[in-house]
Amino acid sequence: MHGKRHDMTVHSDQPYNAEPPPSALAGSDLTPTDAFYCRNHGPVPDLDPGSWRLRVDGRVATPLTLSLDDLRGRLPEATETATLQCAGNRRAGLTAVRDIPGEAPWGPAATATATWTGVRLTDVLDAAGLADGATDVEFVGADVSDAADPPQEFGGSVPLRKARMPEVLLAWAMNDEPLSPVHGAPLRVVVPGYIGARSVKWLQRIEVRDRPSANFFQASTYRLLPPDAPVTATPGEGVELGLVAVNSDFLRPDDGSSHPAGPVTVAGYAFAGGDRTVVRVDVSSDGGATWAQADLGTQASPWAWRHWSATVDVPRGTTEVLARAWDSSAALQPERPEQVWNPKGYVNNSWARLRLRGV
Ligand code: MTE
Repeated sequence: MHGKRHDMTVHSDQPYNAEPPPSALAGSDLTPTDAFYCRNHGPVPDLDPGSWRLRVDGRVATPLTLSLDDLRGRLPEATETATLQCAGNRRAGLTAVRDIPGEAPWGPAATATATWTGVRLTDVLDAAGLADGATDVEFVGADVSDAADPPQEFGGSVPLRKARMPEVLLAWAMNDEPLSPVHGAPLRVVVPGYIGARSVKWLQRIEVRDRPSANFFQASTYRLLPPDAPVTATPGEGVELGLVAVNSDFLRPDDGSSHPAGPVTVAGYAFAGGDRTVVRVDVSSDGGATWAQADLGTQASPWAWRHWSATVDVPRGTTEVLARAWDSSAALQPERPEQVWNPKGYVNNSWARLRLRGV
C-alpha cells in the first residue's frame, strides 16, 4: 500500500502509519522511498498538482498565491539530504515502562533519510517580503485530522531564524522522484534537524506570524509533559518539541536473533538535530560496565544521520548489547526509558538495547 514494502509494520491503516523492519534502513545512508516510514494524522488528500496553489500571507509585504510552475520557474532549485525523525520514534521502549493509551508503539524505524528537491523557504519569504513583527513561520497542510480538538488541518511553525536557513526546503521531489501522495505531494516542507511534525506535508498555506502556531499539533500535542500530567494538555502546557535530541538504535541484526557464539557485527544509526552532529557512538556487551567505540560511517550532509557498526563478543546464552551516542555539544543519551517517560511517549532517546542469543 502507498508504494511501501510488503513487510512494513502498519500501526494503522486509516490514517496510514507504518515503519519498515529496522534492517531495511541499514546498508545505505539514503533510505529507499519504499522503506521510508509514514506518519499521518488524517487521510491522505488527493490534490491535483495543476490546480493546487500555495498561499503565503500574514506578516508579509505582498501576499502571494503560487502555483508549482511559479515555484519552479521563478526560484532557484535546491537539493538537501536530510533525516526526518518522528518525535514518537522508539515509543515502544516507553510503552514497555508504562502504558501510553492512544499512541502507537513505534519502533526504531520512524526515522529515515532522503534527498529532497524543491526551493528554499527563505527565497519564498523574500519574494513575499517580511513585514514588521515577523517572528515565526507557520505551515498548514490540506489534510483535516479528526484526532485534533477541534478537528483541523495539520500544521505547525518554526522560528523565523530557522525558516531563513538555506537547508529548509519546500520540496516536490524525494530521492529524485516526484513526491508521492503519502509523503505530501505536490509540495511539503522539510525542516532538517527539527521533529518530523514540522515538515508539513500537502502544504497549502504559509503564514508569517508574530508568535508560534496555535495549531493543535503544536500548541496541544508534540509537547513534553511531566510524567504525572494528564494526557490531554491545555494549549501551551509543557515543553514544545523542536530540535531533535541525540538518539540512536540498532538496525542489524534482528532483536532476539541467534548467532554462533563468538564475534557478531552489530550496526545502527545515530542522529542529532539542531546544528549538532553525532561525534561518537559507544557499544557495551557487559551492561555498561565497559564501552567500546563503534566505527562511525560518513555523514551524507550536516542534516543526516550517521550509520555505525561494531563487533561484539557474544557468548552462549542471552546477551544484551547496549549502544549510546554523543553529539557535538557533548550531550549523551540517557540510560533508561524510565528516566524520560512522558504521557504522550515522545523523545525516547534512552540507550539502545539489543538482545542476542549465542548458540
Ligand atoms: N503533515 C501533514 N500535513 N499531516 C501529518 O499528519 N505528519 C508529520 C509530518 N508532516 C503530518 C505532516 C509527522 S508527525 C511526521 S513524523 C512527518 O510528517 C512524517 O513524514 P513522512 O510521513 O513523509 O515520513
